[in-house]
Amino acid sequence: MEKIKSILTEEINKKGYISISKFMEISLTDPEEGYYINQKPLGKSGDFITAPDITQIFGEVIGAWAIDIINKINSKSSFQIIDLGGGRGTLLNDIKRVRSDNSISFGFLEINKKLMIAQKQIFPEAKHYKSISDIPDAPTIFIGNEFLDVFPIKQYIKINKAWKEVFVTKDNDRFLYCYKDIEDKILFEENKKKFPNEADFFEVNTKIKKIVKDISNFLKRNNGICLFIDYGYFKGYGNTLQAIKNHEYVDPLSFPGASDLTSHINFSQILNESKNFEMDFFGPISQRNFLINLGALERLEILKKSTNSEKIKSDLDEGLLRVIENSQMGELFKVCAISPKNKLIPEGFD
Ligand SMILES: C[S@@+](CC[C@H](N)C(=O)[O-])C[C@H]1O[C@@H](n2cnc3c(N)ncnc32)[C@H](O)[C@@H]1O
Repeated sequence: MEKIKSILTEEINKKGYISISKFMEISLTDPEEGYYINQKPLGKSGDFITAPDITQIFGEVIGAWAIDIINKINSKSSFQIIDLGGGRGTLLNDIKRVRSDNSISFGFLEINKKLMIAQKQIFPEAKHYKSISDIPDAPTIFIGNEFLDVFPIKQYIKINKAWKEVFVTKDNDRFLYCYKDIEDKILFEENKKKFPNEADFFEVNTKIKKIVKDISNFLKRNNGICLFIDYGYFKGYGNTLQAIKNHEYVDPLSFPGASDLTSHINFSQILNESKNFEMDFFGPISQRNFLINLGALERLEILKKSTNSEKIKSDLDEGLLRVIENSQMGELFKVCAISPKNKLIPEGFD
């Protein structure tokens, strides 16, 4: 963490401040010390836990959804399922259990060395890719659970009727926010018009455009679909930068390299970009409704019937409730999908 702080300080010293996106990029993906390169973020001993590690039902119903897509597309070539930012590999492994034959291959897009080892352990035959351009051509289902939220954002604030960008500066040993002239005016103008006139603060995820573009080009060439599940909003605006360390929210500027630094996803940004790249967009729908539409409650009953243990039954209930209850992850988390125009209507979005 000291090394990250000195890299950030050096960058800040160049002109007195750096953008939030640069602060996030260095903190999360510095090649030696970045949080997503070096740390073991997930699980009870990590900083946070995600839906696939809370309940197996999450991966199983998404697995059944994926098989339905494969049947609908009915391609002669065999499919691949790629987990974008695969975490501990639990989701892909649960998906594989739904249909384990040789006609589907599996892969992870991952940059975290420790997670790659965990993924290899749980799923030795899965392949690893560092970028979308490395993935071989084949009909593909991409799944990104809590993937987009890790990418850097820019923030804009209206002060005395003038728009400014939020930057990070340093005072003695502390990183602080400051407000300066906007760095990338084109990015700002392009996005400002998508927010309501009364907005006095908004954020832009700087990588969604490229990710949607790369995935759209890939899917237009190969057929398939991409599912994104994340915490976020469809309408609205505001400051959503957050940091989590040891399962607690902490100040986003206080633990660079040692806390998970993310923002909420603006699903309308995915919608706009998917339109730009001539893709169909489905959703967004709440995680609760998506999982229930895919049969999560029925799956729960089947699993409960398969055991006599009251403890296992209550753990199964508790796990599913956590991901579908509106007061927990059910409403905050949303789901959308993009696929090439007029090729497919995926289940779950009605
Ligand atoms: C919040 S975790 C979600 C993990 C997993 N999808 C889950 O649901 O448990 C984000 C994942 O994205 C990976 N990641 C972060 N930046 C990435 C990048 N630039 N390219 C690919 N994966 C990345 C992280 O290492 C981690 O596996």
